[in-house]
Amino acid sequence: MEQAQRASAMNAPRQMLTEFVDLKAQYAALRESINARIQKVLDHGQFILGPEVAELEGRLFAYTGARHCVTCASGTEALLIALMALDVQPGDEVITTPFTFAATAEMIVLLGAKPIFVDIEPDTCNIDAQKIEEAVTARTRAIMPVSLYGQPADMDEINAIAARRGLAVIEDAAQSFGATYKGRKSCNLSTIGCTSFFPSKPLGCYGDGGALFTNDDALARAMREIRVHGQSGRYQHTRVGVGGRMDTIQCAVVLAKLERFEWEIMRRIETGRRYDSLLSERAPDLRVVQIRSDRTSVHAQYTVMTPRRDRLQEELKRRGVPTAVHYPVPLHRQPAYTRYGGGALAVSESVAAQVISLPIYPDMAPHILEQVASAVLAGA
Ligand SMILES: Cc1ncc(COP(=O)(O)O)c(C=O)c1O
Repeated sequence: MEQAQRASAMNAPRQMLTEFVDLKAQYAALRESINARIQKVLDHGQFILGPEVAELEGRLFAYTGARHCVTCASGTEALLIALMALDVQPGDEVITTPFTFAATAEMIVLLGAKPIFVDIEPDTCNIDAQKIEEAVTARTRAIMPVSLYGQPADMDEINAIAARRGLAVIEDAAQSFGATYKGRKSCNLSTIGCTSFFPSKPLGCYGDGGALFTNDDALARAMREIRVHGQSGRYQHTRVGVGGRMDTIQCAVVLAKLERFEWEIMRRIETGRRYDSLLSERAPDLRVVQIRSDRTSVHAQYTVMTPRRDRLQEELKRRGVPTAVHYPVPLHRQPAYTRYGGGALAVSESVAAQVISLPIYPDMAPHILEQVASAVLAGA
C-alpha cells in the first residue's frame, strides 16, 4: 500500500514551474500606462479609428523605417489585405512555406489563388530560398516567406528572385516584429510586411490586432481603402474591401507596450542565446533552431528538435514545464490543403515530427530558464 502511494506520488504532476508565456508579469510592469491609455480612450469615446490609431501607425513606421504603416484587425487580416492590395486573382499562384500557421496559406486560398509550397531549411525551419525559383511559373504573382519563430528568412535572395521574375514579396512577420535582418527591421524587408499583435506575439495587444508596412505609396493607399470596405472617401467604394480595422483600445494597449519594447526585445534575444548555450550540443539528437549571424530572432517561440519529441514533451509535462508544438503537421499534409501539395516536402515533414517549443517571455527569470533547460536535458 505504502509502496503504491509512493509510486503514485512520484508519477503525480509537479506544480507548474512556469507559464508558457507569462503576460501577467508584463501587465504588472506596465499596469499604470496601460490603464491610463485605455482610460483615455474610454473618456474620448472614439473607439473606431480614434487618435491612437494614427499615433500607433506613426510610431510603428518610424520604428521599422518603412514609409507607411496601416493597422488592421489581425495578422490574418493583414495577409488578406496585402494580397488584395496586390490584386491577387483566382488562379494566381503564391509561393510560400508549408511549415507555418495556417493563416499564411489560408488567405491565399480564400482569394481563389493557389499556394505553392516550397520546402524549408532543416536548421532555421524557414523557406529554402534555393528552391524558390524552380517553383515560379507564368501564374506566380508573389512570394510569401514567413519569419518563423521570430527570425527573417533569406530576404535578399528572395527579393532578388522576385525582382528577376517581376513578383511581389509579402513577409509574414506575424512572429518577428522587432527582429532585424542585416541591420534592417522585419516588416520593412520587402514589398509588404504583415505582422500580428495577438497577445502572445512579441508585440501584443489584449485582443486581436495587426499591421501592414510598405514603402510604396500606391499600395499603402490601397491597403487603407481595403481596410474600410474599399472606401476612398465616406461611402465612396472605389474597390472591394473588408471590415478590417484595429480597435482604438487595442492600439492604445500597443502604444503603452512600446514603452519597454526595446528592453523586451533585448531580453528575448538574450534568453534565446542563453537557451542556445545551455542546450546546443548538450544531448545526443537534440538540436536547436539556428539563428543566422546576419539577423536576430525575437523568439516568438524558442524551439528545439528531437526525434523523441513526444517522449520529451511527456517528460517535461511531468516536471511542470509547459510546451507546445509549432507545428505538428505541415500545411501540405493538412486535409484543407492537400490538394495544393506538390508531393513530398521531406524537410518540412521531418521537422514537424521533431519540433517542440519551450517557455519564453521577456520577464522569464534566469533561474527558471536554467531549470527548464535542465529538465530538457534530463528528458531528451
Ligand atoms: C506565421 C503566422 N501568420 C499569421 C498569423 C495570424 O495572426 P493573427 O492570429 O493575428 O490573425 C499567425 C498567428 O499565430 C502566425 O503565427
